[in-house]
Amino acid sequence: MNRVDSIAKIPLGCYPTPLHELPNISRVMGDGKRLYLKREDLCGIGFGGNKIRKLEYLLGDAISQNCDCIVTGGGSLSNQPIAAAACANRVGLPAYLILPKTTNAIIRRLSEQMGASIIISENEPGNSVAKLIRQTAKVLQEQGYNPYIIPPGASSVHGVLGYTDVMKEMYEQAANMGVSIDHIVCCGGTGNTYAGVILGTKLYSPSTTATVVSIGRRFCHKETLCKMANEAQRLLGTNAMVTEEDMHIFFSCGKGHGSETSKGRAAMEKMAALEGIFLDPIYTGKAFAGLLELNETGIFHSGQVIVFLHTGGMAALLGSITK
Ligand SMILES: Cc1ncc(COP(=O)(O)O)c(C=O)c1O
Repeated sequence: MNRVDSIAKIPLGCYPTPLHELPNISRVMGDGKRLYLKREDLCGIGFGGNKIRKLEYLLGDAISQNCDCIVTGGGSLSNQPIAAAACANRVGLPAYLILPKTTNAIIRRLSEQMGASIIISENEPGNSVAKLIRQTAKVLQEQGYNPYIIPPGASSVHGVLGYTDVMKEMYEQAANMGVSIDHIVCCGGTGNTYAGVILGTKLYSPSTTATVVSIGRRFCHKETLCKMANEAQRLLGTNAMVTEEDMHIFFSCGKGHGSETSKGRAAMEKMAALEGIFLDPIYTGKAFAGLLELNETGIFHSGQVIVFLHTGGMAALLGSITK
């Protein structure tokens, strides 16, 4: 039994997002391996990216609780503020965005264009953004509003459900294409997306291996990731318990979250030069560099099908070009 249909959700994107082969990089990877890209960057609202599927459940929850506005925020290169403002507009909820002072002018301008109320956090990102989110929600409550708080990264049990949906969609797509996926690789910031990838893989394609490439030094322990995934699993009412043995973590961090690496830049350039597809230097570029490093270690076998999950990152790409 799977209770997913009984959980509040609002469809916001254009689905299914494409799943297609990258023939030129597949050739470079060698040994008859076939690399596919799952295009969550192309999900059809705002800049797309991994926050949209998470927001479908978060905004479903907000509406089921009769909330009348949302409060959220993120780091200076995060795709969260644009995604949240775009999706909130679609469901008619005013958005209050907490942005760090260092936020790129483009992100700020686009957020304003979407009519979001912007509150600038004077200190560096991190705790101060989370704190300002809570404070802003409290002020709104005192004014008689019923705000819904979306945590930075939209990382909650709802986020896990969003990526469980993506895996269902992807494994169905692959089956229709006559393709069997051996390995999926995704980018990890908080690990929330990966928790959904792991749970969805366990539910819909248990023989597939799922690896996360962490782009920050302080990444979640497997125990925390399991807790996240199994909280969602309980909501779904399935018996697909995720265990630490299901998890594979690879690090591609450089100086940590928010930093660029030369390998990440090279991986971005390879994707653009060989396939005409943009990655970003903070998230997907570093994660793809991790995939290429994993390929060198021989972890992928001859003839295997590998999918890289394109989680977006347009805000980080624009931010890095125009800073
Ligand atoms: C483009 C992109 N990919 C991946 C991630 C990582 O997502 P998670 O925090 O769910 O691990 C983020 C997080 O902000 C992101 O912006």
